[in-house]
Amino acid sequence: MCGIVGYIGYRKAVDILTSGLKNLEYRGYDSSGVALYNQNKIDVYKAQGKLQNLVNILDEKRAEVENSTLGIGHIRWATHGAPTTINAHPHTCNCGSLVIVHNGIIENFKELKVELEKKGCTFHSQTDTETVAHLIAQEYAKTKDLTEAVRLATKKIEGAYALCIMHKDEPETLVVTKRNAPLLVGIGEGEYFVASDVPAIIEYTKKAMYLNDNQIATLTRNSLKLIDENNTEITPKIESLPWEPVALSKMGFKHFMLKEIHEQPDVIRNVLNGKLHTIDEPINLEEVKLDKETLKNLNRVQIIACGTSLHAAMVGKYLIEDFCSIPVEVEASSEYIYRKAITDEKTLVVGVSQSGETADTITAIRQAKEKGSHILIITNRPDSTMAREADSLIPVNAGIEVSVAATKSYIAQLMSFYLLAIYMAEVKGCITKEISTSLKKELIILPQKIEQVLNEKEQIKKIAKEYSSFKNFIYIARGVNLATAFEGALKLKEISYINATGYAAGELKHGPIAMLDETMPVLSILMKGKVYEKILSNAEESKARNAKLIALTDSKDAKIDELFDHVIRIPEVNEILSPIISVIPLQLLAYYIAEYLGKDVDQPRNLAKSVTVE
Ligand code: M6R
Repeated sequence: MCGIVGYIGYRKAVDILTSGLKNLEYRGYDSSGVALYNQNKIDVYKAQGKLQNLVNILDEKRAEVENSTLGIGHIRWATHGAPTTINAHPHTCNCGSLVIVHNGIIENFKELKVELEKKGCTFHSQTDTETVAHLIAQEYAKTKDLTEAVRLATKKIEGAYALCIMHKDEPETLVVTKRNAPLLVGIGEGEYFVASDVPAIIEYTKKAMYLNDNQIATLTRNSLKLIDENNTEITPKIESLPWEPVALSKMGFKHFMLKEIHEQPDVIRNVLNGKLHTIDEPINLEEVKLDKETLKNLNRVQIIACGTSLHAAMVGKYLIEDFCSIPVEVEASSEYIYRKAITDEKTLVVGVSQSGETADTITAIRQAKEKGSHILIITNRPDSTMAREADSLIPVNAGIEVSVAATKSYIAQLMSFYLLAIYMAEVKGCITKEISTSLKKELIILPQKIEQVLNEKEQIKKIAKEYSSFKNFIYIARGVNLATAFEGALKLKEISYINATGYAAGELKHGPIAMLDETMPVLSILMKGKVYEKILSNAEESKARNAKLIALTDSKDAKIDELFDHVIRIPEVNEILSPIISVIPLQLLAYYIAEYLGKDVDQPRNLAKSVTVE
C-alpha cells in the first residue's frame, strides 16, 4: 500500500527513483510523484493515474531534472483523499522547503490538523500525510536540525508510517524513519537508496539495512547514522539481500497473470524440492522449529490470513484436521485481532501471506506471540516483516508474483499445507504408511496434471467468452473444495468486477437459491469422492430454477453432460488433493473473462498487491 523510494549519491536521481517506483507498482498505482533537489531548491512533480503519466512529465522536463542526485519518490494507493494530483505525494510544508513521502496511515491526523491550522498551517490536500509535513516543519523551525525535527514530530504521531524526508536547507541529507510499515536502506559506495521493498533497489546494491520501528536513519552521501526514539545511537545491522535482480518480463504472455498461471507446474516442483525426496521417506520439513514432543502435544492450530491466503488456510484446516485429528481454527486476520482469541503455548499459530507484509496478519501474529504461541509463517517473501518475526518459516518459493491477483503463490501455499499436514501426521504417528505413500506419489505427478489443464485452455477461453456478459455468478462446492469456490469467485470479482460469490453447496437452499434464474450462472465444483452426489443434487436444484450451469469436474459420467450447459473436465485426482488442480481452470476462466472485457488484468482498480494498512 503505497511505495516509497529515496536516493542520495552521485547518479541521476530521477532514473533511480522512477525505476524504483516501477518495481513498487504492485503496492499501488493511482498516482505518483517525485521531489528532486536541484540547485538550492526542491522541485516536485506529480501525476494522477499510472506511473507512466509521471514518467512522461519527467521525460518532457529531462533537461530540468536530470542533474539532480538527491530525491524522493512515491507511488500511491489512496487511503485519505481521492487519487488526484493534489493528493499525490510528495507533500510539502507551507513554504515548500520540506518534502515528505509516506506509506501508512496517521490515525490522529484530524486532531493534529486542527492544532496545526491554529498555528497558521494551510492544508492543500485531503491526505493524512500533509499533517506530518507541517508537523516536522514546525519542529524544524525550532531545532534547525532535520533529524531532531523528525524525532520530535514522530513522537506526536499515532498510526503506521514509513517516511522519507528532505529539506532545502539540508541539501546533503535524507532522513528516514518507520513504525509498523516496512522500510530499508540500500547501501552503495558514496550513495544510499531508500525503499519500501527490495525490488526497488536490488539493481543497484545487495547490501541493506532494515529499519526497526521508531528508528531514524540520517543519510548523507558518505554516512549513515542510526538512532532510536530516545536519540541513542545504534550500530546499523547491514545484511546481504538474498536476491538477484530479476527482469520482470511477461515472457511473451499478454499479462503477468497468465504467465504466473503457467508457472504453476514449476512452482509445485520447487516446493517439493528437498522436502519430498522419495515416496518412502518421511517429509523433510526442517523449517518447522517445534521439537517433536511439543508438536505431538499440540492441542490446537490457528491459521490466520487474508484474501487468497485465507482460502489456502481453509484447505490447510481441512488437511490438518483430516490427517492429524487436531482441531484447527481459520480466521481472517482482521477479525482475529479484535476479539478475545484463545491461544497459548499449546497452540500452533500459522500466519499465511504472499507478501509477508499484510498489516492485519502482522498484528494478529504479534498478538498470538505475546500469548506464548509458536508462530509458523508460510510466505513467498522470506525477507518480509512476518518472516523476520517468525519462530518457524516455510518460504513457498513461488518467485516474484507481479499480478495483483494471486495465482502461483496460492498453489505454493496449498502445497506447503499438504507438506505440513503430512509432516505433522508422520511426527504424531497418525497416518498409515500406505496413505502417506499414496499421497506422496500423487503429489509428485500434480505438475503434469496441471500441464494437461493448461493445454486445454482454449476450451475455457470459449466458455469465458460465452459467459462474459453475465453480471452475477455463484460458485458452489463442499468439503475440501469449498475454499476453491471462494477463491474462484474472488479471482473473477477482483479482475473483472463481476459479482461472484462462493457458497457451501448445502447452504444454497437456505437463502441464496432465491436469487437463481436465467441471469445467474451456477458453477459447481464436482470432484469424485465423498460429496460428489450431494453437489450433483444441488446443481439439479439450480437447474430447476433456470440457472445456466457450468461443471468443473474430474468425472467422466455422462449424466454431467446432460445436466450441465458447459463442462470443464480436469484429470482425475484424489479428492483430498483436488484443490491444487481444480483452482487452475477457475483462474483461467476469471482471466479470460476479464481479458475479453478489456479490464486491466494485472492492476485491477482499487487494489494493491501488498496491503500494509489495517
Ligand atoms: O500478501 P497476502 O497474501 O497477505 O495478501 C492477502 C490478500 O490481500 C491477497 O491475497 C488478495 O486477496 C489478492 N489480491 C487475491 O488475489
